[in-house]
Amino acid sequence: MHEKSLILLDENQIKKHLKNKSVSITLLNEIDSTNAFFKKHKHDFPIAICLAETQTQGRGRLGRTWHSPFGQNIYFSMRIHFDKSANALSALSLIVALALAHTTEFFLKENTIKIKWPNDLYLNDAKFAGILIDLESMSDNHCVAIIGIGINVNMENVDEKQIDQSWTSLKKIIHHDIDRNQLCAKLIDSLINYLARFEKLGLMDFQDEWIKRDYLSGKPIELIAGEHVFSGDCTGINTQGHLLLLMPDKTQRAFSSGEACIKKYKN
Ligand code: BTN
Repeated sequence: MHEKSLILLDENQIKKHLKNKSVSITLLNEIDSTNAFFKKHKHDFPIAICLAETQTQGRGRLGRTWHSPFGQNIYFSMRIHFDKSANALSALSLIVALALAHTTEFFLKENTIKIKWPNDLYLNDAKFAGILIDLESMSDNHCVAIIGIGINVNMENVDEKQIDQSWTSLKKIIHHDIDRNQLCAKLIDSLINYLARFEKLGLMDFQDEWIKRDYLSGKPIELIAGEHVFSGDCTGINTQGHLLLLMPDKTQRAFSSGEACIKKYKN
């Protein structure tokens, strides 16, 4: 049988496509987690990237694991400084999700990527990418963020036990392989642009883009926040990026964190 050859990540190829050349890139065959890499290695570069072909302990949100098979997907972390307090960065994950949606849409052309608040990327009602941000507060007005991104790129088959939610990949949508080196370069450039715009102009400058991509708005939601479960109709986000729910008593409540799922009504 004809075996397809695997094209590995390659720093020269990434740099060839990259517009912002002043980033440091660490490319690894295997690591526990690219986010954990930056907790151990503090870089002098203002912006540093770590990429790995596989992760042995890929981490997802809310203590989940992130399935990280070799050579198929992108496991990416960016370490970047902000002259802002951790509180002022509450919408950071939404901006990263918008940058990621913009980047991946370039490869899909006609498809519209949706974002399930706060930062899950969806295509055809299935998740294909996720974001995990670790923030380190250096002083009142200075933070270092480790922005971890996992994208299912060329992965086609997964043992059902490995992923406990409905998932997809870019290849499952467009039926051919995507050049991961080009995708990484575009991701780095988009992140740098979106984050600079966010620092300068804030979340409100992205309002129209968020509305276009909002997966939950107008839908009945169940939100798990700590030990509590809240039900309501999603009416979008507020100026801080918190999720807005119209509760059964017609009051509106804002939630800064939680896991949202769309309620399915029985007829
Ligand atoms: C989620 O949706 O639960 C977040 C997934 C984040 C996965 C990425 S892969 C690169 C980085 N390293 C990790 O251990 N996690 C993030």
